[in-house]
Amino acid sequence: MDIGPAQTEARRRFLRMLAASPLFASSHFFRSSLTNLLAANVVPEENAFAALDMLLHSDDVISSPDQALDVMDFEAAARKVLPPAHFGYLATGVDDDGTVRANREGYSHIQIRPRRLVDVEKIDMSVRLLGTTWSSPIVICPVSSQKAFHPDGEIAVARAARAKDHLQILATAATSSVEEVTAARGTPVWQQLYPTNVWEVGRSIVKRAEAAGCPAIVFTVDQQEGANRETLFRAQRADKRDCTACHKTAYTGYARGRPGGASGGFSGYVARKPMFDGLDVSKVTALRPIPMDWDFVKRLRDAVTVKLLLKGIVTREDAQLAVEHGMDGLIVSNHGGRAEETLRPTIESLPEVLDGVAGKIPVIVDGGVRHGTDIFKALALGATAVGIGRPQAWGLAAFGQPGVEAVLEILRRELRTIMRQAGTTSVAKITRSYVVTRPT
Ligand SMILES: Cc1cc2nc3c(=O)[nH]c(=O)nc-3n(C[C@H](O)[C@H](O)[C@H](O)COP(=O)(O)O)c2cc1C
Repeated sequence: MDIGPAQTEARRRFLRMLAASPLFASSHFFRSSLTNLLAANVVPEENAFAALDMLLHSDDVISSPDQALDVMDFEAAARKVLPPAHFGYLATGVDDDGTVRANREGYSHIQIRPRRLVDVEKIDMSVRLLGTTWSSPIVICPVSSQKAFHPDGEIAVARAARAKDHLQILATAATSSVEEVTAARGTPVWQQLYPTNVWEVGRSIVKRAEAAGCPAIVFTVDQQEGANRETLFRAQRADKRDCTACHKTAYTGYARGRPGGASGGFSGYVARKPMFDGLDVSKVTALRPIPMDWDFVKRLRDAVTVKLLLKGIVTREDAQLAVEHGMDGLIVSNHGGRAEETLRPTIESLPEVLDGVAGKIPVIVDGGVRHGTDIFKALALGATAVGIGRPQAWGLAAFGQPGVEAVLEILRRELRTIMRQAGTTSVAKITRSYVVTRPT
């Protein structure tokens, strides 16, 4: 059958749409092949269809950590091994996931100004954070329920953190206890805190973490009830497995962001998490305090004997209040786009938060950090360190501890490369003059 010019154009448009589709997000190689073929107008459309055919029947997902060229390669590998609901839990933002994408895109509005003719033989990536020196500014953020990604969960992450010397922040809703993780890490980790609506429960978690040697508590303040995690809810619908086989306390998934749903309830949910072992959780109805306000922060400040940080601050006003309330540090974060759909990247919130703290306390930023250049940009804007959430879990899901190690190694290598290219031999030398911000 002969195909006329109108049909050829229609097919070409269809192929272009496919090449841009998130359906093929995991297939970097074939996606770019298809795009290139389409861009080169001289190539017959049959070739584009052949590429599409290869794409549909191909599997260019990495099968070992050493094949990864960047940390995103681990996302496709994680998607391949995880059940839909677990991958949905990891990937989800809220509403249309617009803030998840914005976190990434934010970095593309910042350009690097490399300096030439600097002796860059020796690169020092170390940073000092609340009295401890780390060999890089890359912090492992709290990601809950890591045994949903790999049987070794937080322990594998801790071993990778130990092997590569990274600060690890353990989630309250972790599937391993602070004692187990500290033992695997070799030195104490920081403890993230969801204090719950019952003061005694939150206080007991703090005291347990302090007893395990945690030098810092990180209170997450960006989670209210009812986050609309649409991608998760859709993935749960698509997952036909029997959840109760693993989620023993009648866990039937989230009912509009409420762990446990109708049958499990919060007490059922927290009862399965080791950090709640031995605590009376019968009155726990929320992971956050009620109300979650500055009076609660005051009360917590009085109860915590180690350093106390707030995670989830994104404005100058709250940063100033945090300093006034005696906080020791802040994490600029929108929970990886899982809190509310602001469409505002954390890298764009960073400057005003830094303004608010006026150099009095360290500021870490997370959200969408996927390359060494992202880390460089955040440091240039004034962050003390950066955090990674999903990339550690992609590496973990795909390959366990070696996957997490590879993710950390790639980010370190990329940071070293850009520091060398830009002529900055230490983190202190990565100043504001090394970046320009493109108007959005
Ligand atoms: C699956 C998942 C679980 C998370 N659990 C927690 C948590 O329990 N406590 C918390 O403070 N942040 C949690 N976060 C947010 C991360 O600590 C971090 O802020 C965010 O993932 C950074 O963005 P990124 O994933 O784009 O790197 C979680 C993130 C993900 C993806």
